[in-house]
Amino acid sequence: MSPASHGNNGDNNADLNKILETLTPIIKDYLDKVISMKGKYRIPLAIPTFQVEDILNALESLFSLQLTMRGKVRLFEEKWSHYIGVKHSIFVNSGTSANYLAFYILRSKLLSHERIKPGDEVITTPVTFPTSVYPIINMGAIPVFVDIELETLNINPALIEDAISEKTKAIVPVHFMGHPADMESIMEIAERHNLLVIEDVSEAHGSMIGGRKTGSFGDMGIFSFFFSHHISTIEGGALTTNNDEYNDIGRIIRSYGWIRTLDENRRREIEAKYPYIDPRHLYVEMGFNFKPTEINAALGLYQIDRIEDIVEGKRANANYLRRKLSNIPYLEDYILLPKEKKGYRHVWLGFPIVLRDESPFNKLDAMNFLEERGIETRQLEAGNVLQQPFMEKYKYRVHGSTDNSVRVMNKGLFFGVHHVMSKEDLDYIVQVFEELVATLRKKENQSNK
Ligand SMILES: Cc1ncc(COP(=O)(O)O)c(C=O)c1O
Repeated sequence: MSPASHGNNGDNNADLNKILETLTPIIKDYLDKVISMKGKYRIPLAIPTFQVEDILNALESLFSLQLTMRGKVRLFEEKWSHYIGVKHSIFVNSGTSANYLAFYILRSKLLSHERIKPGDEVITTPVTFPTSVYPIINMGAIPVFVDIELETLNINPALIEDAISEKTKAIVPVHFMGHPADMESIMEIAERHNLLVIEDVSEAHGSMIGGRKTGSFGDMGIFSFFFSHHISTIEGGALTTNNDEYNDIGRIIRSYGWIRTLDENRRREIEAKYPYIDPRHLYVEMGFNFKPTEINAALGLYQIDRIEDIVEGKRANANYLRRKLSNIPYLEDYILLPKEKKGYRHVWLGFPIVLRDESPFNKLDAMNFLEERGIETRQLEAGNVLQQPFMEKYKYRVHGSTDNSVRVMNKGLFFGVHHVMSKEDLDYIVQVFEELVATLRKKENQSNK
């Protein structure tokens, strides 16, 4: 990076450069030490994606008191749009905020015509992180759930069309655990029925279908930059879109409903209509504070330059594991290993597995087995959102069977697969799975006696 590129001018810049240069080797040594330190788990769920240049960039913003949303946020948005291949990105303070922002845009009174209203239906997947569902309910719309394909853990496109009613307005696919949902089929159905598509890409940065990035297929894409994701701004998220109107309204709603962060021409156009209001306090829609800080942007900026290395590192390690695990005799009698569909680029937020019905272990038994051996695990997030207590309180519709989603809730789990893993650690995971399969076989033989 070029130190102090956005900082104060003149002498202050030179002073700040000197401080940052002095700090560089100290931070680097310390960071290397912290990152290589082993915590409670030999294989943790997540590892940091920060490097020294990210921390220096954040320090530069801190020292120069450039703290609230400005140049680095804008630059982050431009670089993210370029990476995903879309016209606009709106950087926000979390993926959850981006989930909500999408629906607040679609119900906004500023739209040239209303896109979604209370009582409308939105088709989505039960296997997800729950914030992809909350905003649908929050706006008074009705989530309609169709089952997933076990192969990819994503919404099954073959079930969508049958679930469409005269109230259906949108589809929300989630690219779960890093494998893209079948966007070609979903977009084809959406176009035929004139439906909106909001892709939740929070777990799948850089995933692709036929060379095209997810987050660029639908009307909007949602990203999370929380700590455990492909790149991280600590907390953070983004909404991507090619639609100018959504972009303007999204920027307004992100910042209280005021117009300060619109492009100048658009701002002046609106200001001219209200000459009696101080333009710095002109509120044209009800909004939120979903703003990120310059520190978040500073931390993430250079990670965008490195994201392809991160993704390729994860892919190489996941593929090594897939190969080695599938060679363990009898493993696939008990465990369904994750797949990558042909022509798709899986980016592996984690390594998901689903135990087969024949397995004498349920999800929690398998999680305990792995955790006792230093491999950190989680259930597959909400698992099946329909089995989560919050859903008892709200209206929804289920179309057809959700057997696969129930199976994921009962039998699914994941562990970390990172861009940097030693061969020893990868082989250690394989060895633990050999032990797991031997234990499962023994248990099965015992219960058959
Ligand atoms: C699919 C999905 N959507 C939304 C979110 C919310 O992101 P955040 O944690 O940044 O609020 C997550 C979080 O991991 C997620 O996995």
